[in-house]
Amino acid sequence: MQQPHPRTFVAVVAILALIHVGTARDLRNVTEPKNPEVCTRLTASGGDDSEAIQKALDSCDKGKAVALVKGTFYSGPLDIPSGVSILVEEKVTLKALTDPKLYDVGANTCGTLNDYGVGCKAFINMYQAHGSGIYGKGTIDGQGNVTMTGKNESWYQLAHDALLGGTYQNNPPLIQINNSVDITLYQITLLNSAYFTVRVYETNGLTVWGLTILAPYYARNTDGVGPVGCQNVTIVHNFISIGDDNVVVKALTAPSRYISIYNNHFETGNGMSIGSEVNYGASHVTVANLTLNGSTNGVHVKSNMFRGGHITRASFSNICIINVQKPIHVDMEYMNLTGNRIPEFHDITFNNIKVLTKGRFIFHGLSESNPAWVRLRDVHIKNGSVWLTSNARMTGAPMLDATGDLCPYQGNS
Ligand SMILES: *[C@@H]1O[C@H](CO)[C@@H](O)[C@H](O)[C@H]1NC(C)=O
Ligand SMILES: *[C@@H]1O[C@H](CO)[C@@H](O)[C@H](O)[C@H]1NC(C)=O
Ligand SMILES: *[C@@H]1O[C@H](CO)[C@@H](O)[C@H](O)[C@H]1NC(C)=O
Ligand SMILES: *[C@@H]1O[C@H](CO)[C@@H](O)[C@H](O)[C@H]1NC(C)=O
Ligand SMILES: *[C@@H]1O[C@H](CO)[C@@H](O)[C@H](O)[C@H]1NC(C)=O
Ligand SMILES: *[C@@H]1O[C@H](CO)[C@@H](O)[C@H](O)[C@H]1NC(C)=O
Ligand SMILES: *[C@@H]1O[C@H](CO)[C@@H](O)[C@H](O)[C@H]1NC(C)=O
Ligand SMILES: *[C@@H]1O[C@H](CO)[C@@H](O)[C@H](O)[C@H]1NC(C)=O
Ligand SMILES: *[C@@H]1O[C@H](CO)[C@@H](O)[C@H](O)[C@H]1NC(C)=O
Repeated sequence: MQQPHPRTFVAVVAILALIHVGTARDLRNVTEPKNPEVCTRLTASGGDDSEAIQKALDSCDKGKAVALVKGTFYSGPLDIPSGVSILVEEKVTLKALTDPKLYDVGANTCGTLNDYGVGCKAFINMYQAHGSGIYGKGTIDGQGNVTMTGKNESWYQLAHDALLGGTYQNNPPLIQINNSVDITLYQITLLNSAYFTVRVYETNGLTVWGLTILAPYYARNTDGVGPVGCQNVTIVHNFISIGDDNVVVKALTAPSRYISIYNNHFETGNGMSIGSEVNYGASHVTVANLTLNGSTNGVHVKSNMFRGGHITRASFSNICIINVQKPIHVDMEYMNLTGNRIPEFHDITFNNIKVLTKGRFIFHGLSESNPAWVRLRDVHIKNGSVWLTSNARMTGAPMLDATGDLCPYQGNS
């Protein structure tokens, strides 16, 4: 075969590069969501409203929403049917009752410690839902900081006990979405989840737009938004300040790919993470226009031989970081766990990054023959920062010229 003319070759490479950029994101064309039409309006009774809310959800027409329009609602776990949404209006709060028995999945372990930590169902659940959502400018409160019914401590204290004892807490996630299609979360405030705030498994089409997610920095495992084995995901215009990963992409039982994470603002938490469980591979993730202020890690790309898989085509651009200990942390030996699932990190790019306070930058690959492949362009950090690379194949270098003490606000308005 004839060799291609060098110029043709350059053109082909350029086009491939464009395709690269063009598809490392949600493949849907996502626009700002609109609240659905309302099927039923409910006012809080002041007592346990679980039954009233569930009944309204079960009898709501597909495409419509049950609206909570007045007061503070108390409820146990709720199941959102396929096609139906819940809308919590401004100044209205939906609080999770704190009785562990309500969330127990059958083994009577919810609200206790053991070696598994899977004894509770979530407060709000979706399973095989198509086109469901959670909307409104109101608040859903997991009451993680409130003493559990019949116990001497809160869900957060239980989680702390687990840390001290090397066990796991059985706490309810706030929102769990499984095996669903085209799910929307819009504008809602999610407060004090007892466990993961929004956990989404094997769902294709997920839009998380304009949320405020809050929990104390010490509230363990209160991850903000966690797509696990999901495709076509858009997470934009959110403010997230919690006690674990602000956003985390995992791939435990299926690949995660085509993910757009734009225009977000993170405060306390563990930062913008990919991993560590990426058995099925995480790829085509674009994070752009992010400000991180006060998280422990900034961008955290992590895996290990226990949970390993491929992390490829992850791009981080237009990111401003301040008051963060480890602004960029790429680690193929996270927690030093061993096993036989070999991680590979390829095509991890950082472009137009400003880090306004000193920190530790870590790029740690697995071995000389299986390094972390990282590209840097326009990465500006503070002189006096610590820059550590081991088994990392780096293209580009940081500039020690970051100035200023202000990051633009990029979250919701
Ligand atoms: C998204 O919009 C672009 C430009 O209008 C169009 O070419 C593309 O087909 C659309 N994609 C989908 C999945 O609708
Ligand atoms: C992702 O979105 C694109 C564009 O709408 C669609 O063609 C594709 O099937 C979606 N992927 C999945 C896994 O749903
Ligand atoms: C979602 O899947 C997880 C893991 O299999 C399970 O623990 C949880 O109960 C499921 N929740 C729903 C709402 O299907
Ligand atoms: C729980 O947190 C909320 C919101 O931050 C606060 O208003 C409330 O007083 C706290 N409750 C307890 C028991 O600490
Ligand atoms: C609650 O009781 C458990 C078991 O008796 C104990 O381990 C825990 O420390 C207590 N928590 C508080 C906050 O007193
Ligand atoms: C990032 O922000 C800039 C300036 O506000 C805007 O023009 C651009 O569209 C944003 N990028 C994305 C991917 O949203
Ligand atoms: C992992 O091992 C390295 C080298 O032995 C050590 O420096 C590091 O502290 C360990 N990390 C953890 C989380 O144990
Ligand atoms: C960084 O600081 C060191 C020690 O203070 C100094 O020697 C060096 O010139 C500085 N580099 C830049 C790029 O400012
Ligand atoms: C960082 O957050 C702190 C505490 O919320 C705030 O006082 C400060 O203004 C923020 N700085 C930037 C640059 O956003």
